[in-house]
Amino acid sequence: MSKIIDITQPASYSYISDTCSYRYIKEGDGLPLRDNLYHKSILKAAEIKRMTSKMSDWWTQTHDSLYAQLGGEPAVDAAVDIFYRKVLSDDRISHFFEDVDMDQQAAKQKAFLTMAFGGPHHYTGQDMRRAHAHLVPRGLSDGHVNAVIENLASTLRELGVREELIAQVGAIAESTRSDVLNR
Ligand code: HEM
Repeated sequence: MSKIIDITQPASYSYISDTCSYRYIKEGDGLPLRDNLYHKSILKAAEIKRMTSKMSDWWTQTHDSLYAQLGGEPAVDAAVDIFYRKVLSDDRISHFFEDVDMDQQAAKQKAFLTMAFGGPHHYTGQDMRRAHAHLVPRGLSDGHVNAVIENLASTLRELGVREELIAQVGAIAESTRSDVLNR
């Protein structure tokens, strides 16, 4: 037996939520036409709510995040390109990248940093632990991580990024240390 909801009462508006539309569907088998339309409008409301929440996520990612403050996609693209030029000419770490396809590596790093900086990302690469596991037997150590973080900071400084933001980027890179070193 389906529960009857009086849609003329203002209290019914509280049914416009995901949970309640779910409850209503369960209780509303064999609804008459009027209720079916109402049922559809509840589903529409839930859809609008989901879209609004996605739009709000998008706004945060593109306007309020560290990614946005750094300058978004063009800034991350430029930074990663300069960063890998530095890495490849840094004798402390360049040997790790000898057999690596650097175009692919730069693309993965851009996607990873976009995600790490809170931007709209599509990172599908490996997690940091797995990505660097094969480098540990080759001697990957804290000193190498320090060198990478140093190169990233000097890249951002060269691009005129504020020290406060460079510190935030440094902290994010630092937070991956134990995964990168598989500790
Ligand atoms: C400090 C933080 C670090 C971050 C955030 C980072 C990020 C990444 C990312 C996103 C990838 C791509 C993963 C994939 O293939 O799906 C990667 C791969 C790689 N990273 Fe790092 N990395 C870090 C430290 C280091 C260090 C210290 C080294 C060595 C000096 C290093 C050397 C490499 C190499 C050689 C690859 C390519 C592996 C391969 O394709 O065989 N990374 N890293």
